[in-house]
Amino acid sequence: MTIRAQVQGVGHYLPKRVVPNSEFEATIDTSDEWIRSRSGIERRHFAANDETTSDMATKAAQNALDMAGIKASDIDAIIVATSTADLTFPSAATMVQAKLGMTTGFAFDVQAVCAGFVFALATANALIVSGQVNRVIVIGAETFSRIMDWSDRTTSVLFGDGAGALILEAVEGDGTNADRGILATDLNSDGRHKDILYVDGGVSTQSTGHLKMQGKEVFRHAVEKLASTAHTALAKVNLGSDDIDWIVPHQANLRIIKSTAQKMGVGLDRVVLTVQDHGNTSAASIPLALSVGVERGQIKPGNLIVTEAIGGGLAWGAVVLRW
Ligand code: ACO
Repeated sequence: MTIRAQVQGVGHYLPKRVVPNSEFEATIDTSDEWIRSRSGIERRHFAANDETTSDMATKAAQNALDMAGIKASDIDAIIVATSTADLTFPSAATMVQAKLGMTTGFAFDVQAVCAGFVFALATANALIVSGQVNRVIVIGAETFSRIMDWSDRTTSVLFGDGAGALILEAVEGDGTNADRGILATDLNSDGRHKDILYVDGGVSTQSTGHLKMQGKEVFRHAVEKLASTAHTALAKVNLGSDDIDWIVPHQANLRIIKSTAQKMGVGLDRVVLTVQDHGNTSAASIPLALSVGVERGQIKPGNLIVTEAIGGGLAWGAVVLRW
């Protein structure tokens, strides 16, 4: 008997305020044309001043619960991938637990920046296949607008806020690649690359800080490492690029997404793209793209999906799952 972590529901939430590229032209030396051509981003959503990461995470989770047709009390665990939790502690996940009215089970955060959702999915999968839990909500939620330096044109135009959630449930499979659910995961990090992508503040340095990025360096690592982790994850279960129905990549930059897909030998018509509408929402970008992909009718039950992401650390990884 093989236990699989199978998707039962997906949902997302985007804050109301939509900010087009043109809005930045008034405050920094940039243009809609530059942002579009260098990143593929056309607009992003920013959270309201009184709207927090756990607020957005809760709405995404409720939408996923509704789609799965289950109640919060049916859930055993909540994992929130975020680098922008409401408070230093408690975790955003325990706040979501309370807001959903869930008084049993457990909840915790995972922090692997833009790769956070992939790390959270792998963690949820491990909890499910080891028999520790039956149903998990895995959420990616971020308010990166709170860590932007608005005078820095090289970073402030690239990020957005939002949340996405998946419900995973333990289901018996037959142990083959035809099973629905998570089939393989691959996680990596290399802390030597801290200086190319980081926030220059934190609790023990007594400030909130702003995001700093050497874009070109991150770009270089991204294309190579994303294609490689996706291939590694696929190879673990004897699958290859031809088997993929959809790549659902971390949505940081259209040029990175295109180069990675090309390196993997997958056409852009098999890639779910939301970067144009969301910008880079860090750990929220993959669950947002999964949810939008389902809403658009792109992702269907039985499809083979590969998610891949890289972020600060560097930390990167991939998950292969059959929807
Ligand atoms: N508007 C106009 N000009 C700009 C802007 C802007 N918003 N930002 C930078 N420029 C200028 C630069 O100053 C530079 O000018 P110079 O030549 O006079 O010095 C020129 O544009 C080219 O800049 P580059 O940095 O070389 O531009 P590039 O083509 O590399 O694109 C970008 C920059 C979009 C940041 C790209 O490198 C990138 O996407 N990198 C990866 C980012 C990423 O994937 N992050 C994911 C992880 S995020 C996380 O984990 C939190």
